[in-house]
Amino acid sequence: MMGSALVRPLEEHWRVAIDAVASARGWPTTRDPAKLGALVARASAAYNDPARARASAREHGAARLGFSFVRDVPKGAAAVRELVATGALVLNGGALRVLDLGAGLGATTWGLVRALDAAGGRGVVEATWVDADAEALALGAALRRALPAGDAVEVHAVGHVREAHSLDGLGEFDMVLVGQLLSELDVESDAAARVEAHATLLRTLLERHTQPHGSVVVVEPALRDRTRHLHRVRDALIALGAGVYAPCLHEAPCPALARESDWCHEDLPVDLPAWLAPVARAAGLRREGLTFSYLVLRRDGLRLVRQLAAPPRAGRLRVVSGAIPSKGKLEAFVCGELAVSGGGLVGTWARATRLNRDATPGNAAWGDAARGDLVVAQPALQLDRARIDRDENIRVATAVDDTETV
Ligand SMILES: C[S@@+](CC[C@H](N)C(=O)[O-])C[C@H]1O[C@@H](n2cnc3c(N)ncnc32)[C@H](O)[C@@H]1O
Repeated sequence: MMGSALVRPLEEHWRVAIDAVASARGWPTTRDPAKLGALVARASAAYNDPARARASAREHGAARLGFSFVRDVPKGAAAVRELVATGALVLNGGALRVLDLGAGLGATTWGLVRALDAAGGRGVVEATWVDADAEALALGAALRRALPAGDAVEVHAVGHVREAHSLDGLGEFDMVLVGQLLSELDVESDAAARVEAHATLLRTLLERHTQPHGSVVVVEPALRDRTRHLHRVRDALIALGAGVYAPCLHEAPCPALARESDWCHEDLPVDLPAWLAPVARAAGLRREGLTFSYLVLRRDGLRLVRQLAAPPRAGRLRVVSGAIPSKGKLEAFVCGELAVSGGGLVGTWARATRLNRDATPGNAAWGDAARGDLVVAQPALQLDRARIDRDENIRVATAVDDTETV
């Protein structure tokens, strides 16, 4: 996976800080998994209920601090992994101005900071944390104070408590983070009105609150309805002329929307830290894998697909399902550039198949391709028959090939 080294579970020193903040408030710590697990189960039920979709810090602070925060920081890192791995986002001794909208305890900011840090970044992240819940921001600030100093990247948080829709006067940022906020906005509106409102919000953030080279990064839970909402917002944004950097490698309508049962989300091989596993178990939640959906927009129109070298006749694809092994073949869904009869490429998805008897050194990489991977297929796979034949070359892109900008 491109940028996989940038996405890591939180280390032990985070546990120490988290437990110190929890103890100071008389909350159960991660060392009391039964008690904390029960609170986490309650918060999870509140959050997964689409009518509520919210777990306030007053009611659910212990669960958010002791569990959700730890689970969610790597989502922020994963959502920016391609920007960082390709060099489209660098921290080079200066300051990166970040607006984190719906920051809560600051998980998405910390994900960004950790990705930059893992890439060898040096400098300061100046984060402005905006949240309607003052107690969540206070909890995030307490956690920041409890963390040991000395990270290569610092966070200067400025707590603004505002409604997300009234951002005038905040100015422009290098990056705007919108971590698991859309799920909580306009939950009473009908589906179409929500899509329009959220596309308008993101477009406003892109056009009024990011620098010319800046990005807006949206993270949402991998739940089917929330991810499909994000697909619709993505289509609406493209119709409005906004530039989608990732995850999509094409700008055609999202093919996942054609069937109600489909949705395109990430499930990366990043587990919860071992120290949190007992809490997950007690809450009845999984500890394996990092699931989320994301959308990265660029003000300058840069697109990830353009950063992947495309040899003649090749198609650039993202693996959007897990591997589907069956007798005699290995399949997975891929989304990106597919060839149509008569020549030319279209943007959509297909179920790509390699028969075991067609495995060759040239297409061996298909054997290891996993959800989220970026694949260059030469020649491009056919839309109506996406077969990886013996003469097919498959390469998984793990780093940028060239840095073409638009
Ligand atoms: C699920 S938390 C996400 C926290 C963090 N960004 C993350 O991804 O882990 C969503 C946050 O959005 C905040 N929020 C909800 N509606 C808001 C609004 N209209 N304005 C600002 N913040 C809002 C909530 O208070 C909550 O802290």
